[in-house]
Amino acid sequence: MTESNRKLLVTGALPYANGQIHLGHLLEYIQADIWTRFQRHRGHECYYVCADDAHGTPIMLKAEEEGVSPQELIDRVGVEHRRDFDGFLVAFDNYHTTHSAENRHFVELIYQRLNDRGHITRRTIKHLFDPEKQIFLPDRFVRGTCPKCGAEDQYGDNCEACGSTYSPSDLINPRSAISGATPEERETEQLFFRLGDFEEFLTKWLGKHTQKEVANKQKELFEEEMFEWDISRNAPYWGFEIPGETDKYFYVWMDAPIGYLASFRNLCDRKGLDFDEYFNPGSDCELYHFIGKDVARFHTLFWPAQLKGADFRTPDGVWVHGFLTVNGQKMSKSRGTFIMANTYLNHLNPEYLRYYFAVKLDNSIDDLDLNLDDFQTRVNSDLVGKLVNIASRCAGFVNKLFDGKLSAGLPDPAMFDEFVAAGDRIADAFESRRYNRAVREVMALADRANQYIDAKKPWILVRDAGTRSQAQEVCTQGLNLFRVLITYLKPVLPRTAENTEAFLNIPPLTWQDSRSPLLDHEINRFTPLLTRIENRQLEAMVEETKAANVKGRATGPLADDPIADEISIDEFFRVDLRVARIRDASQVEGADKLLQLTLDLGGETRNILAGIKSAYEPGELKGRLTVVVANLAPRKMKFGVSEGMVLCAGPGGNDLYLLDPDSGAQPGMRIR
Ligand code: MSP
Ligand code: ZN
Repeated sequence: MTESNRKLLVTGALPYANGQIHLGHLLEYIQADIWTRFQRHRGHECYYVCADDAHGTPIMLKAEEEGVSPQELIDRVGVEHRRDFDGFLVAFDNYHTTHSAENRHFVELIYQRLNDRGHITRRTIKHLFDPEKQIFLPDRFVRGTCPKCGAEDQYGDNCEACGSTYSPSDLINPRSAISGATPEERETEQLFFRLGDFEEFLTKWLGKHTQKEVANKQKELFEEEMFEWDISRNAPYWGFEIPGETDKYFYVWMDAPIGYLASFRNLCDRKGLDFDEYFNPGSDCELYHFIGKDVARFHTLFWPAQLKGADFRTPDGVWVHGFLTVNGQKMSKSRGTFIMANTYLNHLNPEYLRYYFAVKLDNSIDDLDLNLDDFQTRVNSDLVGKLVNIASRCAGFVNKLFDGKLSAGLPDPAMFDEFVAAGDRIADAFESRRYNRAVREVMALADRANQYIDAKKPWILVRDAGTRSQAQEVCTQGLNLFRVLITYLKPVLPRTAENTEAFLNIPPLTWQDSRSPLLDHEINRFTPLLTRIENRQLEAMVEETKAANVKGRATGPLADDPIADEISIDEFFRVDLRVARIRDASQVEGADKLLQLTLDLGGETRNILAGIKSAYEPGELKGRLTVVVANLAPRKMKFGVSEGMVLCAGPGGNDLYLLDPDSGAQPGMRIR
């Protein structure tokens, strides 16, 4: 295929539908967005698709926690994700969901083809089971003490303290993270994809289609002999049922990458594109996946093998990036650096972040740091101080003194040509995902443009009628250099490019256009393109992040009933809370919500009327411990006097649940 008619399909990994988009995610979606915009800018046909990853246990549990159905959860999160991507100018051609008809079709098709060709086997394995919740627990939902270093409260798959990996059954004192119960090992029959069948293909594929570091790491897997991949999960599970099985579902990672096909299929149906042209084996179209290093194994072993085994084309490139750190450390809620997309947008322009990521991104898998001071400096001194400055220094004179007219010729055409010639190097840098090189080159040229203006001093030339037309030429030169540079950065700064097109009064810039100068042309009034980042904006963003962390995520109960204003510890201690034992409980004649409780506070007896009738039978309450507000003034109610109040939790209305002190607490003890 020649350079001029490439057809490309690009994806970003599918974000889970149980949380919000944060700046770490955005590193990836912006990286891929810059690349796809660059391809289109160069005249190629390039589609960028994504979707929500909507299946799996975490989503099922999150929905349960919020008291909504999984469908309601993924619908709401889908809207939030789209809003955030729009906000950062991430321009997907399609944003779909893995919980879609297209995805069900493809996962069934791929599974059936793999099965028909003997790549699926079944085996009985042992898996941890939550006896209270009655579900098999994913590794992440088992917690316990690290068997290697003894750190407490670690995940079932790896220890955050010492970094070792193990299986959940190795944990000391394992607990279910959902119910707190001790998990049991249970036997269960599951389906496996025989990855080993593809060893030869994968070894070759890895050598060509991902970074070397990634390929080497994945090849180690074959030495570990983990040739089979568990692709099924038992009910209850939120996902697609496996045809021909009872109570078995596809594991979320089986259908997640297939979501790429589903999203593209959906786009094809809407736009009348030819899906098969892109996905038949031997396709001339190019397919690239941008992903983070944590999901490399799924994308560089399982995914190419799934495609290969089911007779689809395989990816041309799986491009892995590192993780985002903020101020040199893992993003942290308490430090206020776990910044949500939405929080950032409340304070800052999305193009600042796009620019900063471009400054730092190359094609390696190294982690990338967003240092907020450096971010501010780069944006203010380079983007605003150098680049945008070229336009603001020149446009004012052209607007005010020359009726907005550019001169008929360039005073320094050789310099213009050099700027144009740099385009090939800059294009190579974008193509090979070394955005940092592209930006560095553009900024070096911006320095030269500014030096040119400094040397020619148009502000002096305009003072004298004899040199006025020279000033017009110098400004025309400056604006043309600016136009070339904005053309190069258009994939990074699409909105600034659009605003530039508006003020230069030109149609959308293409890479090709910038090769000839804009002369004898009337421009529009200039308005500032980008402004500096002020300290207070960064501070406000960090503060908002910290505050959101204190309040928790406003979904479920918190969304409807936000946390009250802060009080002091002294104010809290004015409320005297005591443990009490329920000696007796009885119905209250004529009351439809109340039960009458006789409580022992460790020597003192109280009669309390509590609105818990709908949740409890009086008999089941006898002997239980609970918590009472002991110094509440007695209240006269319709059915008698209540001498205090028992603590309950509930959504309001009828369903209230008693708080229950842990064993060890004794009646009369104070809660502190
Ligand atoms: N649902 C899976 C991907 C399925 S793809 C078929 C998933 N979702 S995720 O929401 O956790 O992450 C989505 C992408 O964002 C992944 O590529 C992940 O590596 C990337 N990132 C998430 N946090 C990140 C950082 N802090 N830094 C950089 N990228 C990060 O994984
Ligand atoms: Zn450890």
